[in-house]
Amino acid sequence: MAKDIKVAFAGVHRASSFFKAFQVHPDTEIVALCDVNRQTLEDVGQATGVDQLYQVYEEMLDNAKPDAVVVATPMQYHVPQSIAALQRGIHVLSEVTAAVCLDEARWLVQECKQSSAVYMMAENYIYTKPNIQIRAMVEAGVFGEVYYADGEYIHELDSLHYTADGRPTWRFYWQVGVNGCTYPTHSLGPCLQWVKERPQRISCIGTGCWTAPHKTMEDTVLLLCKTATEKLMRIRVDMLSRRPHAMTNYALQGTKGAYESARRPGEGNWVWLEDYCDDANEWAPLAQFEEEFLPDYWKNPPQEALEAGHGGGDYFQVMDFVEAIKGNKLPLVGIHEAMDMTLPGLVSQESIQRGGEWLDVPDSRNW
Ligand SMILES: NC(=O)c1ccc[n+]([C@@H]2O[C@H](COP(=O)([O-])OP(=O)(O)OC[C@H]3O[C@@H](n4cnc5c(N)ncnc54)[C@H](O)[C@@H]3O)[C@@H](O)[C@H]2O)c1
Repeated sequence: MAKDIKVAFAGVHRASSFFKAFQVHPDTEIVALCDVNRQTLEDVGQATGVDQLYQVYEEMLDNAKPDAVVVATPMQYHVPQSIAALQRGIHVLSEVTAAVCLDEARWLVQECKQSSAVYMMAENYIYTKPNIQIRAMVEAGVFGEVYYADGEYIHELDSLHYTADGRPTWRFYWQVGVNGCTYPTHSLGPCLQWVKERPQRISCIGTGCWTAPHKTMEDTVLLLCKTATEKLMRIRVDMLSRRPHAMTNYALQGTKGAYESARRPGEGNWVWLEDYCDDANEWAPLAQFEEEFLPDYWKNPPQEALEAGHGGGDYFQVMDFVEAIKGNKLPLVGIHEAMDMTLPGLVSQESIQRGGEWLDVPDSRNW
């Protein structure tokens, strides 16, 4: 039986992480795939059983007439492809980051205002089990007022900066070919959910270029974000340094408690909570508070969630996107939340050039 929501995909590499969630959802059906690489497209078409295959994105939108599209192409295509869908009334789940420059961020916001369709950015790290639990604990007030948060995305990606025959890929240009915090959303996303105020001004500084001077971006960049009430977020992004990955380092501090995530594989996540911990110097495992605070959907996740990428985040964000399409809730990362996670990184490019000068981050709600 045909399902209600017909979904199409643009860029079928990263998209494969979302397939299962859309396939098992009772309301969604994958009807079409688009990729500029014919061979990749045919391989994925065969693996998924989807037979409407396109190499030209707009042709897919016009011929397959999907209700929703997942934009999982390289970063520089997110805005044009999202706009093309929104103009046709097609709901958009866009990969991160939402935009690669300030002007196109404005175009996207304008289009979202005019379109009847849902726009959601696929920031999946906010859906991981520990991050969801911390959010629930923040909302229950156990940390008191959260006034500091930090997040780190340390992921050396050298092998993805070149094709097999040595040509630079989109990541070479758009992720490490620009100096600044070019990929902030996985770190800033969860922090914003905990601090609950938008970044009003930022400063960005870096270490200088040591590992790969020809790649423009400094090895480690630090993005400091202040909110209107002086709360502080510190984001470290490093896609160049040689070391093991650490993409889920987080911490927060509130007036009544603190959180420190695991920093290495196998380590636990820890909290200290004034109202729960007897000893002022004794951390407690985050897992100890699962029963009381972890939302039900994460207590008994379906097998598909456990198998999904990014700690289940790829599954749960699809569930939320479908709920938003059905009008049952607002997208967790709608256009303005997407801008709060994306714009600080865009402004950071000017800040780092000016030696870390503090600069205002535009509020897309005023555009
Ligand atoms: N949220 C996450 O955890 C996460 C993880 C990985 C990648 N990403 C994001 O997903 C996106 C894709 O990343 P990737 O690793 O799959 O990149 P990739 O380069 O491996 O794959 C991109 C795919 O898009 C296709 N493509 C390129 N231009 C296209 C176009 N104009 N129309 C249709 N198809 C096109 C390519 O042929 C390729 O198959 C990026 O924006 C990246 O930032 C997010």
